[in-house]
Amino acid sequence: MEFFDSFVIPPSENHVMLLKYILTITLMLFIPYVGMMLGASFISTYFNKKGRLEGNKIYSRFAKDVIEKLTITNSAEFALGTIPVLSALFAYAQLLYGAKTIAIGIMAFSAVIFIMAFTFIYKYRNTFKIESVLNAYRRLASPEMLKTDDKGVKEIETFEENVVSTNSISGTVGKYLLLTAAYLFGGSAALASSPDKWEHVGNILQVIFSWQSLFSFLSMLSIGGIITGAAIIFYFFNWQGGLKDMNDGYAAFVKKFAGGLTLISGVSFPLMLLISYLYLPAIAQSPEVFYYMLITLVITLILCNFVYAMIKNSEVTSGTVVFMLVFLLVLFNIIKDQAAFGNAIHEQTIEATKVAEQLEIEARNKTVQTSGINPQQIYDTKCVACHKFDVKVVGPPYDQTVPKYNGDVQKLAEYIFNPQKIDPNFPPMPNQGLKKKEATAVAQWLISKIGKK
Ligand code: HEC
Repeated sequence: MEFFDSFVIPPSENHVMLLKYILTITLMLFIPYVGMMLGASFISTYFNKKGRLEGNKIYSRFAKDVIEKLTITNSAEFALGTIPVLSALFAYAQLLYGAKTIAIGIMAFSAVIFIMAFTFIYKYRNTFKIESVLNAYRRLASPEMLKTDDKGVKEIETFEENVVSTNSISGTVGKYLLLTAAYLFGGSAALASSPDKWEHVGNILQVIFSWQSLFSFLSMLSIGGIITGAAIIFYFFNWQGGLKDMNDGYAAFVKKFAGGLTLISGVSFPLMLLISYLYLPAIAQSPEVFYYMLITLVITLILCNFVYAMIKNSEVTSGTVVFMLVFLLVLFNIIKDQAAFGNAIHEQTIEATKVAEQLEIEARNKTVQTSGINPQQIYDTKCVACHKFDVKVVGPPYDQTVPKYNGDVQKLAEYIFNPQKIDPNFPPMPNQGLKKKEATAVAQWLISKIGKK
């Protein structure tokens, strides 16, 4: 991607190490967050609609609680979403410096969609707050007040209709944008790990319609389901003593739903893990990757055990442990993916660090050259034959010409570098064949000697 290469610098060897750490840490924030957002937005919009249609209070409340708890706070969007996705993008772009692949372009596209999706989902979240304010108002208002044909009451009713429709539109748009972004992000990360495909995959459709993208997406969905279920249990029952004022019916419903979700996703995940391992290009495979996959697998099985016991006994005291295990699972899965990615781009990295070394050497030479230029010496050898400061020789005296540049080094340097005909009383000045840096140095020197008038 030449576009990215123009503002991404090639990484040096130490830099590559650092980038890999940064990438692992950012993904550790980003993947659980996106998993929770995906799960929460789909579950919440589903139960929100169902609750309205059936007039079921449990569904409606669940819709509100899920989106409110799992999106954490309004500022989480930046800390866990926007900033991590941008830093992951830049880390990938640097690691793939100079690589001929559309992976980074597509990842950038997905980042934009992610950010849009977050905005819609938080808008969806906040409409619930407005609705509860309106409901509180209803409780406070006396029945007579609500019956009158008062303009205010009508206004509030229209306002509420708008809130409800904004709510359902934002929720729907947000969740599908998020799904699209996750698919493209997974697909581009998978492509980044398959250098053998870089040459053949030239447009976004080839990324969309690829088995590799599909399986990486499915495994992301499994992880999303595991995280969402575990997070619901954790936030509803364990975190700071759990939600207040849950009645038994509601609590039982939440336990059953969230436990079931975690268990089903947890059981399907090992399959995804194996398939995505089989789809790894040979160049990305190594014993390390295999061991990390085994560790992830073992954690998943332990997790499923805990969740199964939780559902069977209908108690949620181990919710915190389960939530921790989920993070461990995500961590080892990321380490596994990053190890595979590291293997796959090994040669690419060597090329990029070579470019970095070359640039460093050039940069060093350049600074030596600039600081080695002696403008006085250039004047003495190249200009003095035709120029003095105060008297006319072949050319005009500097005292009369330099002040009109008004201290503009760039402009004077341009003239010295490439003289144009100016004064009809003089012959044109022949080009002295200076280098750009030399011309600048001389211009600076002349201006500093004469000053501006
Ligand atoms: C062979 C003679 C000759 C040499 C060598 C020469 N100049 Fe000139 N220079 C001229 C002449 C003739 C003019 C007037 C050109 C004109 O007005 O069109 C001129 C004009 C200038 C001007 C005035 C431009 C203006 O805007 O009016 C500057 C500044 C200048 N020279 C700088 C230099 C510097 C610096 C060097 C050495 C690197 C240099 N010249 C070497 C002949 C020379």
